[in-house]
Amino acid sequence: MREEFVYLDNAATSWPKPGAVYAAINACMQHAGANPGRSSHRMSVRAERVMDETRLLAARLFNAPGPSHVVFTLNCTDSLNIALKGLVREGSRVVTGPYEHNSVVRPLRSLEREGAVVRVARAAPGSGVDMDDFEDLCREGVDVAVISHASNVTGRVEPVAELAGIVHRNGGLLVVDAAQTAGTLEIDLVSSGIDVLAAPGHKGLMGPMGVGLLVFGRDLDLRPWREGGTGFRSEDEEQPGSLPWRLEAGTPNLPGIAGLGAGIRFVESEGIRSIAEKESSLARELTRGLAEIPGVRLYSDPEFTQSGIVSFTIDSLDVSMAGVMLDEASGIGVRAGLHCAPAAHRSLGTFPGGTLRASFGYFNNNDHVERLLAAVRQLAVHEIR
Ligand code: ALA
Repeated sequence: MREEFVYLDNAATSWPKPGAVYAAINACMQHAGANPGRSSHRMSVRAERVMDETRLLAARLFNAPGPSHVVFTLNCTDSLNIALKGLVREGSRVVTGPYEHNSVVRPLRSLEREGAVVRVARAAPGSGVDMDDFEDLCREGVDVAVISHASNVTGRVEPVAELAGIVHRNGGLLVVDAAQTAGTLEIDLVSSGIDVLAAPGHKGLMGPMGVGLLVFGRDLDLRPWREGGTGFRSEDEEQPGSLPWRLEAGTPNLPGIAGLGAGIRFVESEGIRSIAEKESSLARELTRGLAEIPGVRLYSDPEFTQSGIVSFTIDSLDVSMAGVMLDEASGIGVRAGLHCAPAAHRSLGTFPGGTLRASFGYFNNNDHVERLLAAVRQLAVHEIR
């Protein structure tokens, strides 16, 4: 009998989803499948209710000032593009980190071509942001700082409240890329001082692909780049100025929003602390096991890894080949390569080959760690002989 497939790619997309998420998507399509806020018939009203409920749930989860501060987007990349391209103008001074994903790096490169000044803080020895360098750059001038809450390569979590303090003391705004932490680590916009939070719906929040969130800690003058129908004040040719309508236009991904709402409910009912503890303890167990295998190099430090991500390489085995072998020979799905974060690999010294990345989710368990360790032992031994 073939063993079950072990999915360890939750940093890319969490899988499987709680049953309530599949059910909510199905129910939405069957019973609330009309345009929300566009018409007064019952189906449209039900659809509107789905959006309102998910907005409320997200506002509560992140302690946003209110549901209007929650904007639905396509994914975390979309959220980051809306935030950065809406806030950064010609001459804006931007400070960022050394471990950013291309969803931050690429928009910043294009904003640089339009006259923004972008500076990147140094990496601290090991991994993480060099806080002194980050502070020095902010002292020289910062309008917007953007940083990932946890690296999608190493899993290291940055001290966002401390970073926010530095940015605010120097007169800037902090945008946080919560791609790897929304739903798996507690995030409180008020106590952490985050001004703008970008989050995917399809990772820790357990929703489907195609929905993301942009959550504001306060009202900001953000230039929208997507304009169009909102279902109200249709006589006005200008986009409504208030959130969330300033940044939302067109028919939304309502089934996705319904699934996201069910995902957030699941996260709330399980408790973020217990989810975080579960994922980080699996990551610690894997890290300890990998550290004992000769020929394996680790790029995640359990001391800082609270996000369920473990990156490693096997000496003498190409990363992509190892990823294929783990799938084909052992039925284990990890991600291999640069993980869309070449800057992080340049900082770590793993560019251009990248790493193997195992990323845990709520539905993983200790057997999955054991399966991966056994498979890596075989690969490492096989290659050394
Ligand atoms: N950004 C996602 C990852 O890290 C897709 O895999």
